[in-house]
Amino acid sequence: MPPPAVLFVCLGNICRSPLAEAALRHEAGAAGLDLLVDSAGTGDWHVGQPPDRRAQATARRHGIDISGYRARQAGPTDFARFTHILALDHDNLAHLARLAPAGREHVLSLLLDHVPGLEGQAVADPYFGDAEGFEQTWAQVTRAARELVRKLGRETD
Ligand code: 4NP
Repeated sequence: MPPPAVLFVCLGNICRSPLAEAALRHEAGAAGLDLLVDSAGTGDWHVGQPPDRRAQATARRHGIDISGYRARQAGPTDFARFTHILALDHDNLAHLARLAPAGREHVLSLLLDHVPGLEGQAVADPYFGDAEGFEQTWAQVTRAARELVRKLGRETD
């Protein structure tokens, strides 16, 4: 079986989803789990740009270099490439649901639905906030990444 392929999707692909990508790459690596991981945005404003400087600084504080990441826009073809498409908030979930080809809706879910106790919640957008908001984002996506590694590790057993 090919390894699970996980796509994180937020609005701009410069704050939340690159941090989620970095966290899952890190947690999967630490657990020795073979995963394909990527991120994208529902919007196209930042396509081709590196992550927001505050997101880069947050990842760097946790020992991870995301300066080489580049934003891209999510599209319908992602539903064929990815086994799990995880939306960071409800607007992004609704947008993705409209892109999903018939029969592929099941790959889509809200990220925090995978975290016991945080079901139904959104990862708050730190873009208009301060550095503390990015640390909160990091804490949430790391918690989610650990749950995903547990779940996906069981699926691939
Ligand atoms: P992200 O944050 O969706 O977590 O990457 C945002 C980035 C850019 C904008 C909004 C949110 N923006 O309005 O440009």
